[in-house]
Amino acid sequence: MTTANSNTPELLKNVLVTGGAGYIGSHVIYTLLRTHKYKVISIDNYHNSFPAALTRVSSLALSELKESSPEPSAQDIDSTVIDVHECDLINPTAVRSIFSSYASKGGIWGVIHIAAYKAVGESSEIPLTYYANNVAATISLLQIMQEFHCTRLIYSSSATVYGVPPDIPIKEETRREGDSVYGRTKVMCELIIEDFCDSIMNDGETNPFQAISLRYFNPAGAHPSGYIGEHPRGRPENLLPLLAHMAVGTVTDPVLKVFGNDYPTADGTCVRDYLHILDLAAGHVIALQALEEGSELNAKVFAGSTSSNGKFKAYNLGKGHGMSVMQIVDAMRKATGHDYKTEVIGRRRGDVPELIADPALARAELGFDAPRDLETMCRDLWNWQVKNPTGYE
Ligand SMILES: NC(=O)c1ccc[n+]([C@@H]2O[C@H](COP(=O)([O-])OP(=O)(O)OC[C@H]3O[C@@H](n4cnc5c(N)ncnc54)[C@H](O)[C@@H]3O)[C@@H](O)[C@H]2O)c1
Repeated sequence: MTTANSNTPELLKNVLVTGGAGYIGSHVIYTLLRTHKYKVISIDNYHNSFPAALTRVSSLALSELKESSPEPSAQDIDSTVIDVHECDLINPTAVRSIFSSYASKGGIWGVIHIAAYKAVGESSEIPLTYYANNVAATISLLQIMQEFHCTRLIYSSSATVYGVPPDIPIKEETRREGDSVYGRTKVMCELIIEDFCDSIMNDGETNPFQAISLRYFNPAGAHPSGYIGEHPRGRPENLLPLLAHMAVGTVTDPVLKVFGNDYPTADGTCVRDYLHILDLAAGHVIALQALEEGSELNAKVFAGSTSSNGKFKAYNLGKGHGMSVMQIVDAMRKATGHDYKTEVIGRRRGDVPELIADPALARAELGFDAPRDLETMCRDLWNWQVKNPTGYE
């Protein structure tokens, strides 16, 4: 952090975050603002989010800055202000004009591309919409980045790229094969980004573009203040937010439908690797630092790259422990006091039995850790839900 009497603070780097108002985007931006190193630019069309998330992120970061530093510098205060753009990524003209508006302000240093549609079931009903929004929009973003000589990208990938993994815990080198339309959009985007990193330019030089793909396992919880959290539009798709909504009464289903209890897992229900949203968000700040050319971290990360030019790297972000659906229900029962009833129905298309990360590579190379436990995730989620039963509305 710079202080009022620092001599020459390093200028803020412009970092564009797509999907900035969403669940992961808002917590990632919060974590970036706390570093006071970046000027964050958010692009979102609010398809599944609310602009209020960004207002709250900014005021949370500002109040924390004022608590920790009685006389913050103008630059530190500026670093808590988000440049908010309502914009659809599938509209290249609009995205290009945002890049253009930063050309005279040092340009956009790097991009964290989080925006996507993510509902597995829905993706098989409207596959073309998913391919357009997740894949075509990513290609268009890469083209615009290239036009503006923006060469650093963090991509929001997912454990879903492993399909039904041959081995548990899952290592990054596992073959990629999405098991759903959604999963395939993530695999395709990774391949496209990797090919772009590996490309040879017209002048025979290798492309200076570097990318890190972060394969998220299951982020959960919220900021402990209860000021920001997850608020999807419509009915929550994911298990933990659904349980929180049932407990607070905004989802009135009398029972939780459990999709299959005949999987080859300890209690027969699906097992996932949950990590706290703030631990996941912290991984993005480290990954961004790893894109600083000439840094020790940059050399370490890309030395182990499997792409031909050594410019693309993927990391699992998970805890390395699995929790079954039934264990999650129990943990939420303890956190909320709500007496959940469950009913087992048939398996859901696209679900895989077990997804548990091997986080060793991210730990060794990025120093990534996900220390917060399931109890903390459930407590923070419940705190957010109780304080905001209708989310940001
Ligand atoms: N939440 C998870 O469990 C999880 C797990 C693995 C990977 N991911 C990936 O992480 C990313 C974010 O997930 P999330 O849970 O925060 O979802 P989210 O829906 O809360 O956030 C996505 C954001 O992107 C925005 N968006 C979507 N399409 C857009 C477009 N064309 N133009 C502009 N904005 C657009 C949405 O409005 C939303 O604010 C996604 O790429 C998702 O695939 C999420």
